[in-house]
Amino acid sequence: MDPTSRRNFLKLCAASVPSLVVPRHLRAAGTGSDAPPTRTPASIDRYIDPLPIPKRLAPTEGSGRAEIYRVRMMEFRRPLHSQLPPTTLWGFEGQYPGPTFEVWRGRPAVVYWENQLPEKHLFMIDPRIHGAMPPTPAVRTVPHLHGSRTRSESDGLPEKWFTPGTSVRYSYPNQQPAATLWYHDHALGITRLNVYAGLSGLYLLHDDEERRLELPSGAYEIPLVLQDRTLDDQGQLVYRPTFEDGKPAPAGTWAPEFFAELPVVNGAIYPHLEVEPRPYRFRVLNGANSRFFNLFLNLAKGPTDVPSLVNFHQIGTDGGFMAKPVELTHLLLGPAERADLIVDFSGLEGKVVTLSNNAPAPYPGWSMLNPNHARLYELMRFPVSLPHSGGRRIFSLPAPPPPELPDPAQAATTRDFILADHLDSQGRTLAVRINHKGYDDPVTEVVRLGSTEKWRFINTTDDAHPMHLHLVQFEILERQGFDPAALMTRGKVVLIGTPRGPEANEIGRKDTAIVNPGDVLTVLVRFDGYAGRYVYHCHMLEHEDNDMMRPYEVSPAGPRPTEC
Ligand code: C2O
Ligand code: CU
Ligand code: CU
Repeated sequence: MDPTSRRNFLKLCAASVPSLVVPRHLRAAGTGSDAPPTRTPASIDRYIDPLPIPKRLAPTEGSGRAEIYRVRMMEFRRPLHSQLPPTTLWGFEGQYPGPTFEVWRGRPAVVYWENQLPEKHLFMIDPRIHGAMPPTPAVRTVPHLHGSRTRSESDGLPEKWFTPGTSVRYSYPNQQPAATLWYHDHALGITRLNVYAGLSGLYLLHDDEERRLELPSGAYEIPLVLQDRTLDDQGQLVYRPTFEDGKPAPAGTWAPEFFAELPVVNGAIYPHLEVEPRPYRFRVLNGANSRFFNLFLNLAKGPTDVPSLVNFHQIGTDGGFMAKPVELTHLLLGPAERADLIVDFSGLEGKVVTLSNNAPAPYPGWSMLNPNHARLYELMRFPVSLPHSGGRRIFSLPAPPPPELPDPAQAATTRDFILADHLDSQGRTLAVRINHKGYDDPVTEVVRLGSTEKWRFINTTDDAHPMHLHLVQFEILERQGFDPAALMTRGKVVLIGTPRGPEANEIGRKDTAIVNPGDVLTVLVRFDGYAGRYVYHCHMLEHEDNDMMRPYEVSPAGPRPTEC
């Protein structure tokens, strides 16, 4: 079907339905509820809405030395799909996802983050969760710039939250290579709820090296913020996490995983983007709470047809360009991971490419096949329907300078981190922890500024965990199995099997890396930047909130402080 005529048809339909065009506050008072939507979330048409492109955030002023930005967190209403009523959302500058920062290496950004949210939270808060007990106010936020090397005071530590009517001034030095960074809320005990409400956005850091690569830009450089959301029949967000058995948690209570029913790309459900037969650059972020995506580009009509794959290239990891672009058929992204991609639609004139996903939920789903969780086989479509607008048809992949990575020979210390579920008497997860410690336990990791260490994450659970460190970009060294009996009886990490190096598309600067069940992931970290307090955690937001996050301390360089 011609997507254009279909879209116009639906626009006409939408225009004749008052509930879609009259904002709620203008509707007759006294009815107490929204007019019935034309569709329910389960019956909407796919691929009728165009992919939104988040607006670029304009600085309020440029002082001599920095760009100054003002970013307000606000509640607002907007439909996530043209056949659904407006959804109440939280967003930066009233947008979901938030506006995109476009900053330049070496030019600092100063951001006034203002909390202008209402006093009532969109979701019920589980008071049992660490840091969320009353009298802690329900609505509190603190923004974190994920992947950046930032002073501790501006890092957005979880306990540095602030309440409606207050603001903070954070500064970002932008002293690191060009990369796809992102910003999101990080408030202690409710990050999962605040991010789910909409508080996340992209932060694109550019530099001269990047400009020299002459990558597709402007209309051909497209951000893809991948998330999942569940809506009720009134189009309102539903947050209902599940236990391991797939059973939903009682309303308002924490459970270890949350997999929503609808794919949302750049804030739109099942959108489409008409493209030209030419190369595009995609900045892909997995911004979901718990869901992993194993992405592929499919020319087949539906998920049950024999797939017909379009290969693509990855040119950048979390923290910048890779030394060598890699050709891929599939791209696995855990929560918070990013990929810089080149997709060439040349020669696909008239075809439709579907951005598809075959990652199980939970990932990798060894413990049980879970019919309670939507699989989200498809996310969005690219009809190759626009004429080629001229310019280069032939595109040669860039040869970026090798990324700055730590040197394994420098690693003096190795630290081990056991990832473990803490279960109740019925075998349900009460919390997930690192070295059996919670966020409040005293700091155990003190690293010296400028030093290099090996950190090993040992996964005793059935889920893969995307582990993330603030402040740094690290290098993945290897993955290997371990002997669970030795760990249980003697507390020893005994490696077994053959070590496996990073995947080809993981060779580069990383700030988040997947630890598979039964694996030890070893990363090499150089603690460059600033002394002070930072955190590391699992980026499944349900895990991060309870209680898979720990503080660490970077001590000033110089002689090792004497221990007492
Ligand atoms: Cu994406 Cu601690 O953050
Ligand atoms: Cu981070
Ligand atoms: Cu986890």
